[in-house]
Formats: sequence, structure tokens, C-alpha cells
Amino acid sequence: MATPVTTIDVHPTELTEPSAGAPTAAQAPAVRKLGGRIGALITGVRLGGHLASETVAAVRAAVLEHKVVFFRDQHHLDEEGHEAFARLLGNPVAHPTVPSADGRYALGIDSDHGARANQWHTDVTFVPAYPAFSILRAVTIPPYGGNTLWANTATAYAGLPEPLRVLADSLRAVHSNDYDYAALRPDAVPEALAQYREVFTAVTFRTEHPVVRVHPETGERTLLLGNFVQRLSGLAGRDSRALLDLFQAHVESPENTFRWQWREGDVAIWDNRATQHYGADDSGDHVRTLRRVTVDGDVPVGPDGRPSELLEPAAVPEPAFGPASGASADA
Ligand code: SIN
Repeated sequence: MATPVTTIDVHPTELTEPSAGAPTAAQAPAVRKLGGRIGALITGVRLGGHLASETVAAVRAAVLEHKVVFFRDQHHLDEEGHEAFARLLGNPVAHPTVPSADGRYALGIDSDHGARANQWHTDVTFVPAYPAFSILRAVTIPPYGGNTLWANTATAYAGLPEPLRVLADSLRAVHSNDYDYAALRPDAVPEALAQYREVFTAVTFRTEHPVVRVHPETGERTLLLGNFVQRLSGLAGRDSRALLDLFQAHVESPENTFRWQWREGDVAIWDNRATQHYGADDSGDHVRTLRRVTVDGDVPVGPDGRPSELLEPAAVPEPAFGPASGASADA
């Protein structure tokens, strides 16, 4: 049976080149579901900073519904166009510690700089207002491997048995960028890993988040975990680890995940408040280069209304360029 295609009803369609300063005519994105619980392919959109507001609204709605959406053949996008498109979803933010690849907002995910994201994580959860959206653009893709996997943390929460949902609702967890890098990447070249760690932890952050976050746009409850979690608040080592593993296993359950095989020119946009992701490190020495721009989020709130709290340092310092991810004070 053919997979259903939803065409989002916006004004008639025109795939024109953007003229300076003016929005393009609205495009009609076609959204095709890829996974049962997460992932959709969007066609009929040429991404850039001049999209009509109806088109942006349609893309945003698709991200909120499907958690991660993919676009093929966006070869025209450069750093500037990538950032300009990000601005249509919110304010771009710099990484709190890692210098950008372009001196502005684009973070380099470069295999030859030792960057690997082969742990399940949500971007930048070691600060309170971590990014709402991440937009990842494939520049150089290896001949094999290097896929990225995403997990839906809303369906992970919804699928928990009732007693576990009640328990999760009551928990909080401390997230930090100062974790055991070597334990998570035992195969990495030690010097490269040490250098990566030094940059990543130039400032040590610790933030306490609720384990369950109420999504500010959809109202869904999502599990807020991933590899930046150090421990559950108020629990000792083994109890904390056992419960974290238990909840994380629900996030990683195959039904809650989708795996994307990159081609150059692809763009993925995900709702960073409702997902975790994992970049598979299985391309050997082949070059893999992507660029990521993140958009400002807000301070998470748990089911009890209690917001996340920055424990260390006293405030999120300004990075070299632009506002830091997580600096937003909005709860
Ligand atoms: C990321 O964590 O944003 C990058 C994921 C990847 O390298 O596939």
C-alpha cells in the first residue's frame, strides 16, 4: 500500500529564487511520515531566510508533530542561508563552550576534529534553557555509515506503565557537560579526546532539570534525560543509575526511534525538547562534516510547575559571539 502523503494546505506554490529582502511566495510542503512514532520527509520546500510565514508555520507544525523532519537536496544552503532559515524558527544561539565553525552560530560536527556524537543525548541540556530546535545540514557524507538516529521522548513517556510515569513525574536529575568522556568513547584517540574535552568543558555547567518536562508548545510530557545526566537528585549512585537506565531504555526502544541515512545537501530539523539523538560512529576514517544551528529554548518546567535550575556557575557566560544557548531566562 502506498504511504500516505499529507500536503499541508497553504497558499499555492511557487519554488522561486529568493529576491533580496522579500519573502518568497508560500510553498506547499508535502509531509510523508517515515516512522510510526517519529520522523517525516518534507518535499516541495527550498529552505532559506525568505520563506513565507505560511510555509514556516507548516514546517514548524510538522516538526512539532513528527519530532524530526528531513529535507533532501538543499545544496544551495550555505552558512548564511542556514542561519537565515534558523531565524524563522527563533533566535539562533551559540554553543556555551565550543567555538563556532563560521565565527557566528554554525557549530561544526567535523569527524577530523574528533567530534563524535555517538551517545544518546538532547543538545546542550547542561544549561537550563537548552535549544528548542536544532537544524543539521550535511556537507560531506562518508561512503558508508555515519547515520543519525532520533528517539521520540514524548512517546517514550506515554508508553511507560502508569507506576513508572508517576515515579518519573516526581524525579529531577542533574545534567553536566563534565562527564566521563573516556568511558563513553573508549576507542577514541586519547589526545584528540583530551583536546575535545578541554574545549567542551572550558566552563563546567551543572543544571537540575525535571525528569519529565511539559512541552511549552504541545503540552505533551517528555522524558528529559540523555548522556549529560550525572545522577538523579536525592538518590545514591546505584539507585540513581538503575532508574536512569530503566527510563533511558524506554527512550531507545526501536519503536520510538528513526534512523536517517544522510546524503549531501540533506537538512534535518528536530524538536530538541521532545527528542534525543545519536550519531553513529561507524565510518572509519572517512570524512563526515555537518553544520548545526540551534534556536533558543525556554526554561523547562516539570509536571509540578517547578522550573529547571542552574546550579553551576552562577550564570551562563556570554560566548565569543551572540547569546549562549541556555542564557534565556524565560520559564
Ligand atoms: C549532533 O549531536 O547534533 C550531531 C549528530 C550527528 O553527528 O549525527
